[in-house]
Amino acid sequence: MSEQKITTTQTGTPIPSDEHSLTVGPNGPTVLHDRYLVEKLANFNRERVPERNPHAKGGGAFGEFVVTEDVSQYTRAAVFQPGATSETLLRFSSVAGEQGSPDTWRDVRGFALRFYTTEGNLDIVGNNTPVFFIRDAIKFPDFIHSQKRLGDRALRDPDMQWDFWTLSPESAHQVTYLMGPRGLSENWRHLNGYGSHTYQWINADGERFWVKYHFISQQGVKPMSPEAAEQMAGQDADYYRRDLFEAIERGDYPAWDVYVQVMPYEEAKTYRYNPFDLTKTWSKQDYPRIKVGTFTLNRNPENFFAQIEQAAFSPGNQVPGTGISPDKMLTARVFSYNDAHRHRIGSNFNQLPVNQPHATESHNYMHEGHMQYHFPPSEQRAYHPHSYGAAGGPAPDPQAGVEASWESDGELVRAAYTLRQDDGDFVQAGILYREVFSDEERSGIQEVLLGQAQSITVDRIREQFFAYWTNVDANLGATLRDRFSA
Ligand code: HEM
Repeated sequence: MSEQKITTTQTGTPIPSDEHSLTVGPNGPTVLHDRYLVEKLANFNRERVPERNPHAKGGGAFGEFVVTEDVSQYTRAAVFQPGATSETLLRFSSVAGEQGSPDTWRDVRGFALRFYTTEGNLDIVGNNTPVFFIRDAIKFPDFIHSQKRLGDRALRDPDMQWDFWTLSPESAHQVTYLMGPRGLSENWRHLNGYGSHTYQWINADGERFWVKYHFISQQGVKPMSPEAAEQMAGQDADYYRRDLFEAIERGDYPAWDVYVQVMPYEEAKTYRYNPFDLTKTWSKQDYPRIKVGTFTLNRNPENFFAQIEQAAFSPGNQVPGTGISPDKMLTARVFSYNDAHRHRIGSNFNQLPVNQPHATESHNYMHEGHMQYHFPPSEQRAYHPHSYGAAGGPAPDPQAGVEASWESDGELVRAAYTLRQDDGDFVQAGILYREVFSDEERSGIQEVLLGQAQSITVDRIREQFFAYWTNVDANLGATLRDRFSA
């Protein structure tokens, strides 16, 4: 039996009651100098922080990553060296819905993975699809707005979703995934994760490679039927969150195998389509998956708010031997996430236990701001360079700096990527529909799309919808048009 603790104010003073405020006589008014009452109400008023703008609804757990293979020829990162083990954190999410939205609404699922490595935190903030809706960050706020709610009635609206998508043909590949079986998963354990972007790896000799991360579920990929999802949305809005927590609680730990596709640095310049375009996958025939290791989720959060809600992932969190690529979306995400965290959590978000490094420490000359928690030894100077040696504070290590890099030159322009031979917007969407989906999946997506056509209320947008799916596949477009008019 643990010893009964006494309730106190936030500053540790014992309090006599959590049931009765201080009043003038038993029937009189409460008094303002009941400091505990005031503190308790004020604290309550500040419990909610802004929810994440996209990806508000989610859940997650901690685990362990073990490297089972040898990929040291491609990266010097300690986290990927043979036999290395690292603590991990994985947060799943839906993109569009708010905090209380049902888990089983059709959506792409976020797959934000953190490795707490001996060289700092490495975050791969991906989804359960290998591509994305757009390829230029300047369109991201418009895309998310089109998936959220109308200004006047605050309702979600198929017209604006389809208007944006059909006027952004680069979305076709991802929308085909979304309307297909990956848009509704049985739960979070039965889905794959993808880094989606192209990243860079650098080996001990300084050689560079382009990589794509794939996290393949050992549980298998299991879709949920639209009927079951609709029913579950009413029955248990937190179905995915509950499933993950309960599976881990009963010791049924979900696991994912980590793979990479590796492209030699020079080949990116001549590959038949732009390997940095986030709306495209790389052919597995050209670049087969290479296994790296496995991670297992084996520890539920002890406190959801502190460890999942306040988790602040960033695609910019890279370690020596890993890095980003010239993908226009990825370079912008490096700015966007930490900016969101400063607004959502506060300027010292990286000092929170879930965000600080776990397998190493951070040392630098940044300090103060809201909620500073860590502070350096009193001898440390607040500036660099200084003449106080090691006691005065940390010094940079010139050997540490093998950063991701690439050649870049040209005029400053606002322009689309230069097109290559196979860079069409609808090419891979058509292949996905015709060659990757099974017959059952093809008839499933037809039903889903017919329902979508019926939910569109503006004729012009419905015409854009039919033209879009005709571009993906002429037969699909014709079938949808015929069945809609029948
Ligand atoms: C969350 C911005 C593209 C996956 C977020 C958040 C922002 C954001 C501001 C909320 C962060 C927070 O409050 O904690 C952007 C921008 C993008 C972009 C500006 C394009 C330029 C993508 C792409 C992916 C992605 C391409 C996947 C490949 C996620 C995930 C989360 C998220 C998984 C939730 C992270 C978590 O669980 O905390 N994004 N995003 N985003 N984004 Fe993006």
